[in-house]
Amino acid sequence: MPQHMSKTITPYQDTDATKKEQVADMFNNIAKTYDFLNHFMSLGIDIIWRKKAINELKKDKPSKILDVATGTGDFAFEALGILKPNKIIGVDISQGMLDIAQQKIEKRGLSDHFAVKLGDSEKLPFDDNDFDAVTVAYGVRNFENLESGLADMLRVLRPGGKVVILEFSKPKAFPVKQLYNFYFNYITPGIGKLFSKDARAYSYLPESVAAFPAGKDFVALMDKVGYKNTKNRPLAFGICSIYTGVK
Ligand SMILES: C[S@@+](CC[C@H](N)C(=O)[O-])C[C@H]1O[C@@H](n2cnc3c(N)ncnc32)[C@H](O)[C@@H]1O
Repeated sequence: MPQHMSKTITPYQDTDATKKEQVADMFNNIAKTYDFLNHFMSLGIDIIWRKKAINELKKDKPSKILDVATGTGDFAFEALGILKPNKIIGVDISQGMLDIAQQKIEKRGLSDHFAVKLGDSEKLPFDDNDFDAVTVAYGVRNFENLESGLADMLRVLRPGGKVVILEFSKPKAFPVKQLYNFYFNYITPGIGKLFSKDARAYSYLPESVAAFPAGKDFVALMDKVGYKNTKNRPLAFGICSIYTGVK
């Protein structure tokens, strides 16, 4: 069982497959509707949050970036637009999601600057100290072993390089907490059922967020793994958080 979780939340219950295999299957199943449902369910706010998170790297001017759990590539595209790095590499365990990313890269003529690769956050296929920055949006919650994922991201980061992690957190204040719980527990699974081939994916979403360390707990884990100067910036009263740390 991954550390820091009371129980392991997996997409499907009726299988012996590991969380990693189930997560890869789930994202392969939903890859084609992923972008549409993302923007639809968040009313486009996910785009604003991605921009805010990438802006955390503006002063650092990274030239080589790794986007972990890149999925269909939206966080990496945002990084390309705002930071204009020389190279960004996106890794993901779902080939279905990467296929969509690859189509978008070719359509936008960005093959010289953005490449995707099948790869696991816990065993990144890169040398130590290889990247100026490492980014992850809505990915860490899905890792099978969060601590080893964070540790391997630190390994490939160069000394002085920065990690930026965007993830759902848990708002505490009334009425945001109540609205958030209602939306996540009832509305998103309903929309997921209607539009996605995999209804379970959208009930896994609130379950995985509920079981995930947020805010101070997540920062404590980053500290434990060895990141320095760790910070948590809550967005929209804590619906999401941007976590940053330095090697
Ligand atoms: C919610 S999507 C986020 C995609 C993208 N970053 C975005 O912002 O839209 C989560 C992604 O994490 C990937 N993922 C989950 N566990 C992973 C792991 N251990 N290593 C690499 N990618 C992983 C999934 O396959 C999926 O594409």
